[in-house]
Amino acid sequence: MPLAKDIIKSIRKVVGKQKHHLHEPLFFGNEIKYLKKTITTNLVSSVGPFVKKFEDQIMKFTKSKYTISIVNGTEALHLSLVACGVKNNDEVLVPTITFVGTANAIVYSGAIPHFIDSETETLGIDPLKLEKYLKKITIKKGKFYFNKKTKRKIRAIIPVHVFGNICQIDSILKIAKKYNLLVIEDAAEALGSFFKNKHAGTFGLVGCFSFNGNKIMTTGGGGAIITNNKLLAKKIKHLSTTAKINHRWEYIHDAVGYNFRMPNLNAALGSAQIENLKKFLKSKRKLFIRYCKEFLKVNDVRLIMNPEFSKSNNWLNTIFIKNSSIKKRNKVLNLAQKNQIFLRPVWKPLHTLKHLNKMPRMNLDAAIKIYNSCINLPSSASYFDIRK
Ligand SMILES: Cc1ncc(COP(=O)(O)O)c(C=O)c1O
Repeated sequence: MPLAKDIIKSIRKVVGKQKHHLHEPLFFGNEIKYLKKTITTNLVSSVGPFVKKFEDQIMKFTKSKYTISIVNGTEALHLSLVACGVKNNDEVLVPTITFVGTANAIVYSGAIPHFIDSETETLGIDPLKLEKYLKKITIKKGKFYFNKKTKRKIRAIIPVHVFGNICQIDSILKIAKKYNLLVIEDAAEALGSFFKNKHAGTFGLVGCFSFNGNKIMTTGGGGAIITNNKLLAKKIKHLSTTAKINHRWEYIHDAVGYNFRMPNLNAALGSAQIENLKKFLKSKRKLFIRYCKEFLKVNDVRLIMNPEFSKSNNWLNTIFIKNSSIKKRNKVLNLAQKNQIFLRPVWKPLHTLKHLNKMPRMNLDAAIKIYNSCINLPSSASYFDIRK
């Protein structure tokens, strides 16, 4: 038990003795004022000024040319896949270490998730392992690469910035270019994360965010797609609003569209939240530095760090327990829970879930190691007074 005790002691030293959840939202800005405005103007649904305002704020913050706000991050990924041209039966490369929504979005689009391994520094896709694997399993026909075994086209890749940490995006983009893969970035957890001063989500053809209640800022439920491609932005916006043609009274729809546009009510909340995003980021940075200092003193534990050139939003701080096992990890989770500290492990690798365990995959040893070894720490922005 000494390791578990040491970990709990260190957490308590950083965040204090009270009850701790993993991540809680923080509302101290214009939230009530903006929400009230949606009600007093009767504009609570998908038409209303806050939708445009919120999109402009995201564009300004991420320096992307176009933003379309969506009902949630999962549907942002789903719609991105469809709009980018991923077709039925195409294979889409996706890490097994991600939230289930990433893989579900692929299935919704009619494509097949093909699971790839992650590395233990950023917890993102392992580019070295991926490149070797693709060389072995693919055959080129025309301008596309096909899986020799399944005969299916490998059409896209979804790099995920896990817990806000930028994955090895430079190397992944090179592989994507070589294998003619569309890049759909899952930046659901990475609003406020940068690589070489470029915002997460701006590296791929499109980038997707989530504004679920547990994220760095929230719209209640919500998401957004960012892109620099004008035609694609137009297509995404059209498809997200039931593919309705503009007309003063007729209901004319020119494709199977989706009802995925974010309501004005949610955008109003988001608009107020994003006004305080820089304060949230500052607070989370401070917390991360405190955890770094504290966990340096704990044997056999390291904190997941920002690699060179990248700046994480520190959405969730994560420890990696050396030479761990499920049993060892669970002892920590158990003791923490008894102490009212609600820690969480990393997601169960997706290829082990019942509805996804028949999907193609590479060797996923590092993912299993990550699952056995990583634990997320309480990471809310509310630990420091940032209301001024
Ligand atoms: C990595 C990742 N991808 C996708 C999603 C899906 O976002 P949402 O919950 O808004 O559908 C989430 C969020 O929960 C996530 O963490």
